[in-house]
Amino acid sequence: MQEWIDKINNAVSLEELEHLRIDILGKKGILTLEFAKMKDIPNTEKKLFAQNLNNNKTAINNALESQKTILMAQELEKQLEAEKIDVTKFTPSLNNGAYHPVSETLNQITTYFQNLNFSVEEGPLVEDDFHNFEALNLPAFHPARDMQDTFYCNDGAVLRTHTSPVQIRTMMEQKPPIRMIAPGTVFRKDFDITHTPMFHQIEGLVVEKEGVVSFANLKFVMEEFLHHMFGEVEVRFRPSFFPFTEPSAEVDISCIFCKDKNTGKSCGCRVCSHTGWLEVLGCGIVDENVFKAVGYENVSGYAFGLGIERFAMLIHKIGDLRSLFESDIRLLGQFK
Ligand code: DAH
Repeated sequence: MQEWIDKINNAVSLEELEHLRIDILGKKGILTLEFAKMKDIPNTEKKLFAQNLNNNKTAINNALESQKTILMAQELEKQLEAEKIDVTKFTPSLNNGAYHPVSETLNQITTYFQNLNFSVEEGPLVEDDFHNFEALNLPAFHPARDMQDTFYCNDGAVLRTHTSPVQIRTMMEQKPPIRMIAPGTVFRKDFDITHTPMFHQIEGLVVEKEGVVSFANLKFVMEEFLHHMFGEVEVRFRPSFFPFTEPSAEVDISCIFCKDKNTGKSCGCRVCSHTGWLEVLGCGIVDENVFKAVGYENVSGYAFGLGIERFAMLIHKIGDLRSLFESDIRLLGQFK
């Protein structure tokens, strides 16, 4: 019997242990066959014979049980070792995060103007009529209010339709000179391939003592900025109208999609509606009425405003603005 117990103690796997159990205690196992011999044993010896067999059976069962515990512990150890994960290990193939193209463009523009010593100002997303319209020379019933499809709240407040109200807030809180930008979220009732009800703008404002800044300064700053963003492009100022600036201009760059490599001229394509020009921002000399609304006197200044999504779409050649806000990481992953 000791021979079998040794075999059990030396078993190296649960499988081998199970084979041994069957060989000893199974239907045709050696111990089972021994028990079968009982019927041929003379009555006087039966008791001793049975006692002996039962002792052997207990010894075998004990050996099997303790070896099973050892082998199971070993197997668990092996499994844990095989499944071990080193969480400190660097895996370059892993999908790591990146800036959303809108945030990236916003950061790039913000940094550009910060480097020119512009401060970065903020204002609330829910605005009152005074800051969003009135103080920007847009009195009630002014037809130019129709330019902006406004979301109204029940109490007459609005979701700001542009970042221009931050001009007003900053001028009322600070004294000139002012040199600021206001990046942020704005809202309008609009939805098609180039408009979403929520989008982002950057407003710029410079205020100095009367006569210090002129349209020429504005023109130079805008041209430098657009060359920084789009490289070698032509910049064109078109007379336009905004209630808060006079004179006002809309600024175009030569189309970057249909620029001829040899001549440098843009020949017209679908993106620029075959004009060769892309409109990128609005700007102008701050209207006297705006300064009046905030109580400023003897100052002059210029302002500009632009849509971040428009810039992001041009930089990354994105066709449908709505795709930027669908949170599809397969699409966003392309802009890393
Ligand atoms: N607020 C204008 C808009 O939302 C953008 C703008 C145009 C801002 C001209 C300005 C400006 O400061 O001078 O369309």
